[in-house]
Amino acid sequence: MLKTVDSISRMQTFVKILKKEGRTIGLVPTMGALHEGHLSLMRAAKTHTDVVVVSIFVNPLQFGPSEDFGKYPRDFARDEEMASRVGVDVIFCPKAEEMYPAGYSTYVNVEGLTEGLCGASRPGHFKGVTTVVTKLFSIVKPDIAYFGQKDAQQAFVIRRMVENLNMGIDIKVLPTIREKDGLAISSRNVFLSKEERREATALYVSLKKAESAVRGGEREPRAVIAAIEEVIRECPSAEIDYISIVDTQSLKDVTVIAGEVLIALAVTIGHTRLIDNTIMKV
Ligand code: PAJ
Repeated sequence: MLKTVDSISRMQTFVKILKKEGRTIGLVPTMGALHEGHLSLMRAAKTHTDVVVVSIFVNPLQFGPSEDFGKYPRDFARDEEMASRVGVDVIFCPKAEEMYPAGYSTYVNVEGLTEGLCGASRPGHFKGVTTVVTKLFSIVKPDIAYFGQKDAQQAFVIRRMVENLNMGIDIKVLPTIREKDGLAISSRNVFLSKEERREATALYVSLKKAESAVRGGEREPRAVIAAIEEVIRECPSAEIDYISIVDTQSLKDVTVIAGEVLIALAVTIGHTRLIDNTIMKV
């Protein structure tokens, strides 16, 4: 039976009981508007841990002033139904007023990995993410927490935070789940018009082209970025935020493609900002 907990203290009491019973906890942090990507994380959590907690919290701290916090899709009844179908045990959905009461003043910031890529056009975003994830970790005390490679930079930042702050939580990062035509599933895809939805597949197509260039021996980042750009530029509604090839340790641009690299891009289609990426070992 799925249990819904909307108060921090009730969640903490429940966690205490679970710990006493020696049961392991898996946490899947989300902002709701659940889809197959989220469900894949929950299914993995089910196989590894005794009790699966899914947090649903649209975190105001990680949205910029001109971003889509207000119109971020919210459908709690549908989320509950989907979570229950995959056997989630608890939905933790705290209120913003309880997470950030008046006078709230504590933040967690991971330096170095957060200034580039999405951090460049979304200042403060990752500070909001690491702060809320730290709070969720302190409340739920998971043994394992699950994240998607779809938000690759976020996953790297959280891994670094857990390591640097000795949080002792096992972070699992799982593959991006895609629509049939390759578009990475995202809660924001609902904002795309029919035409924009067609154009949106360009992100995936461009990454596939990049992968085959690298597999074919291309080691010059500029050449691979140009190949990606060429695909995106064919879409009339697309505006490129960034296309980057970075080292997976530092998230800094590489001068030559070698070792493990993250090829990542952010593109706004119409009014919707989409991201996608691939990790390659060469
Ligand atoms: P949200 O966008 O709801 O995503 C929750 C988790 O689902 C993240 O770890 C994300 O990477 C993963 N995810 C999203 N789309 C996916 C896909 N197509 N395939 C696989 N995994 C996917 O990311 C956040 O929320 C927030 O920043 C959060 C971590 C909850 C902090 O507020």
